[in-house]
Amino acid sequence: NVRAAVFASGSGSNFQAIMEETNLPIDVVLLVCDRSDAGVIAKAEKFGVEPLIFNPKAYAGKEDYERLIVEKLRGSQVEWLFLAGYMRIVGSVLLTNYAGRMINIHPSLLPDFPGKDAIGQAYTAGVETTGVTVHYVDAGIDTGPVIAQQEVPVHPDDTKETLTKRIQQVEHNLYPTVIRQLLEQEDERGAGISRNSSVIVD
Ligand code: GAR
Repeated sequence: NVRAAVFASGSGSNFQAIMEETNLPIDVVLLVCDRSDAGVIAKAEKFGVEPLIFNPKAYAGKEDYERLIVEKLRGSQVEWLFLAGYMRIVGSVLLTNYAGRMINIHPSLLPDFPGKDAIGQAYTAGVETTGVTVHYVDAGIDTGPVIAQQEVPVHPDDTKETLTKRIQQVEHNLYPTVIRQLLEQEDERGAGISRNSSVIVD
């Protein structure tokens, strides 16, 4: 199994979906969280995952707290990072250390509606279809190369809440599925099997 860390700032429903997925080829050994009041912390405790909680305001800048995070990740031999509602722009320290091994889930069909409250943005815009994207993390806000996307319809009688529920259900299936496929591909590459495969989830 691959040693992994989940980064989250919120309630942790995606963290939970990853933890509850059976036979994922990962061991989540660390939760990195930037808010001491985040619901995800209790979930980490429940699953026996060590939390690394930090207060960004206690540091002079992003590089300082990211250096601390990378030190901890290295000490725990973490190879892959899964962002699940981590509401910060990733900086150069994390990016250089985990380039190509850091992915994020976002509740829209990127490049539409990046950033905060993507579901609210789509709802307000009145689109008929939105969705979920899993992508590699780069220096931008939800801009990295797309790995997989799944559409979610917006119904005429939807409230923001009913739409949020529909999107979350898709997220909780898509993220573990993509993680599995991505790591299986890595495994094949590592074993020297050359293959033209890409992650396709519909
Ligand atoms: C999820 O919908 C995730 O896609 C989103 O935050 C939510 C976290 O929920 N992420 C972003 O908007 C990233 N830009 P959770 O804490 O219940 O997993």
